[in-house]
Amino acid sequence: MLLEQKVCLVTGANRGIGAAIAKRFAEEGAIVYAASRSAVGATAPVDAAALTVPPGTSGAIISLQLDVTDAAAMKDAFVRIKKEQGRLDVLVNNAGIMKDAIIGMISEQLLNETFATNVFAVINAMQLAAKLMQRQSSGSIINIASLVGTNGNKNQLVYAASKGAVIAATKAAAKELAASGIRVNALAPGMIDTDLLANTDQTVVTELTKSIALGRIGKPSEVADACVWLASGLSSYVTGQIIGVDGAAVM
Ligand SMILES: NC(=O)c1ccc[n+]([C@@H]2O[C@H](COP(=O)([O-])OP(=O)(O)OC[C@H]3O[C@@H](n4cnc5c(N)ncnc54)[C@H](OP(=O)(O)O)[C@@H]3O)[C@@H](O)[C@H]2O)c1
Repeated sequence: MLLEQKVCLVTGANRGIGAAIAKRFAEEGAIVYAASRSAVGATAPVDAAALTVPPGTSGAIISLQLDVTDAAAMKDAFVRIKKEQGRLDVLVNNAGIMKDAIIGMISEQLLNETFATNVFAVINAMQLAAKLMQRQSSGSIINIASLVGTNGNKNQLVYAASKGAVIAATKAAAKELAASGIRVNALAPGMIDTDLLANTDQTVVTELTKSIALGRIGKPSEVADACVWLASGLSSYVTGQIIGVDGAAVM
């Protein structure tokens, strides 16, 4: 049990990578606040199977309604966790959106929506988490960035810029919060088999798969495994790092 009784918050946990992280954390004994936009999932149903606590483990999954772009709701979520658990050990900023637009067709709405979800909400959550974690002089913050944020990609200027901002924020926060015993890292997944990828042009997916050294798309559980490591004491001397989970993709 790598995360025995650790109190964790995972955003966007109703499906995809977030659901896999919530499940893996619970398997490792964590008390997981699995946040989703609505109790039944806003744009997709809650992945009930993924969010079932495996029998024989001491972990727990507690559903939490949270639109990460709603600053008041975000504050309420942290207040609730403090009230119920008295602490927060791990924050995973996973909720994110990816919408393509070629240069010249980028709307103000796309910019605002993408940055509100992928950047401003992440910074807001890091601030709220830091307040709780500073009191206990420990904590691990994990931001889900992207390979597109480190390498860029055509048609994805806005998404790439948002994930690049997450990477810069991760490195800055790691330097500032280290003195409080708080570690801040990011995962930069490549292509992972979720709804986000299902909504991408499949000819593009097939073409990009050829550039992955391991020769296949990744699984949400493989991102979750890396997340367990960053959340646990096994990574106690690791902070300010951007860790690729991409099968050695060349982009
Ligand atoms: N899949 C990939 O290939 C890949 C690669 C690199 C990075 N990533 C990153 O990994 C993270 C998870 O992606 P995924 O592949 O699991 O995508 P996904 O299947 O599309 O899931 C996205 C999750 O984010 C949630 N979300 C979006 N906007 C939200 C908001 N305003 N408030 C609360 N939740 C919100 C969604 O909730 P709803 O169900 O309510 O929409 C959903 O739970 C994202 O940050 C993404 O950028 C994914």
